[in-house]
Amino acid sequence: MNRIISPSLLSADFSDLKRDINAVEDLGVERLHLDVMDGHFVPNITFGPFIIKQIRKITDLHLETHLMISNPSKYIKKFSEAGSDTIIIHYEASTNIVDNLLLIRELGKKAGLAINPDTKPDVLRKYYKYLDYILIMSVFPGFGGQSFIDDTLNSMKYLVRDTNDYNILLGVDGGVNNNTIKKVYNTGIDITIVGSALYGAENINQRYSELMNG
Ligand code: DX5
Ligand code: ZN
Repeated sequence: MNRIISPSLLSADFSDLKRDINAVEDLGVERLHLDVMDGHFVPNITFGPFIIKQIRKITDLHLETHLMISNPSKYIKKFSEAGSDTIIIHYEASTNIVDNLLLIRELGKKAGLAINPDTKPDVLRKYYKYLDYILIMSVFPGFGGQSFIDDTLNSMKYLVRDTNDYNILLGVDGGVNNNTIKKVYNTGIDITIVGSALYGAENINQRYSELMNG
């Protein structure tokens, strides 16, 4: 069973970002999840390459950049130059997925593809050979703190089985907390993204160990 937590900065305090990044570094995490929203593909706006470049300066953690943006083709290079290590585009947002994934790898980064909760996981089959990472959304993208959608557990189980012969990391994103993390672990996925349940905790150390032991 894999217990790798990737904190989502979406629920961090951006007025003291260094402190909030250091706080999760001290927990021993290896990755950070960065949610980029454009107000078009999703009804919310966060930050872009400019902020990621600043984040890159203050941490050596693996930066997984989750692009919830339309027309990702136009921006992949910018997110690469900003210092992302994994770049994840959305299946629903790209019109040339293979080209996008090839470009991400050409730039020396890990290539990821995310699916919304209502997208059937078998649409990903033809992309396996281009992929280093699959992100299964367990909420509709746009906001932190939403409720976990149980149906997506089936997508997780399907992808764990179906990608077995490939070297693809599977991540789960949205609504993971003390009550839902066990069923996520039980599917056998690799990485669990946690935002509000971690950064919203009074005692982050205690919450992290609860989540790890979930
Ligand atoms: C949702 C984002 C998630 C979000 C998760 O659109 O992609 O990464 O930060 O937040 P929680 O863990 O609060 O659901
Ligand atoms: Zn995300």
